[in-house]
Amino acid sequence: MKIMITGSDGQLGKDLQKECQSRAIRFLASDVDVLDICDLKEVQEYVWMAHPTAIINCAAYNAVDQAETDFAKAKMVNGIGPKNLAIAAEEAGIPIIHFSTDFVFNGDKGSAYSITDQPNPISRYGQSKLLGEQLVQAVTNRFFVVRLSWVFGAGNMNFVKKVLEWAKKKDVIKIVDDQVSSPAYVVDLAPAILDLLETGSFGLYHLTNQGHCSRYEWAKLIVEKAGLDASVEPARRPGAPTFRSRPNGPSFLPWITFRYQT
Ligand SMILES: NC(=O)c1ccc[n+]([C@@H]2O[C@H](COP(=O)([O-])OP(=O)(O)OC[C@H]3O[C@@H](n4cnc5c(N)ncnc54)[C@H](OP(=O)(O)O)[C@@H]3O)[C@@H](O)[C@H]2O)c1
Repeated sequence: MKIMITGSDGQLGKDLQKECQSRAIRFLASDVDVLDICDLKEVQEYVWMAHPTAIINCAAYNAVDQAETDFAKAKMVNGIGPKNLAIAAEEAGIPIIHFSTDFVFNGDKGSAYSITDQPNPISRYGQSKLLGEQLVQAVTNRFFVVRLSWVFGAGNMNFVKKVLEWAKKKDVIKIVDDQVSSPAYVVDLAPAILDLLETGSFGLYHLTNQGHCSRYEWAKLIVEKAGLDASVEPARRPGAPTFRSRPNGPSFLPWITFRYQT
């Protein structure tokens, strides 16, 4: 096995590399400085030269709020990039794992979403990620589209890091309690993803850690576990944007068709 990991400097990409190392699986790691997934020719040449046996695409444009004003970039990285990788995977006759998000749903269901629920994104980010899902599935049958939510791990751009920063600077931090989802720790995701690849059971999956919580509940736990003194209080977003960047109410509960337990 020789796995090609794109977006390898991101949270998930980093832990997938570690997991490959621990399983003695060969891998080729690239981030945008080495391989821009938006460039089809570059992607095809890379795959032709490297002869991977599978592609795992961790590259993404994850700036949810920015995507409202930079939709073109979001569509390019989250839609066209995955399509390019799927084209190269199809040409090479190898599978592709691509990641999507709970943002493909509108959050109105009020209970856990399953893979049979119809996506209906209400944000530009969600639309760009749905485009990626659809294009990958249109190009190849050898796909795993894996929807994740609230990913956290090594890296500076995640909720855990932000809460710790805020809690060190302030006595009281206010966190919204109307966003509910299932956090997903990359240390748990990485082995689950490699296990999933080995099954050869292509299709659409939802993958998170078990349980669900609000942002407020999660922040409280983070502060408590870190032994910090800051008080965490529930809040509703003041001056909430005109679009709902995260749907209100239970949006993405652990409705997992493939669950990995640690
Ligand atoms: N983070 C979450 O809470 C969350 C939730 C649900 C689903 N997901 C999905 O899970 C997957 C992994 O997320 P993550 O949190 O590990 O992402 P991440 O930390 O943001 O990493 C994404 C990586 O992709 C790189 N990249 C951006 N544009 C690229 C391009 N054109 N070509 C190649 N690489 C490019 C980024 O580089 P730069 O940093 O230089 O841009 C970054 O290193 C993504 O598909 C994401 O949409 C994430």
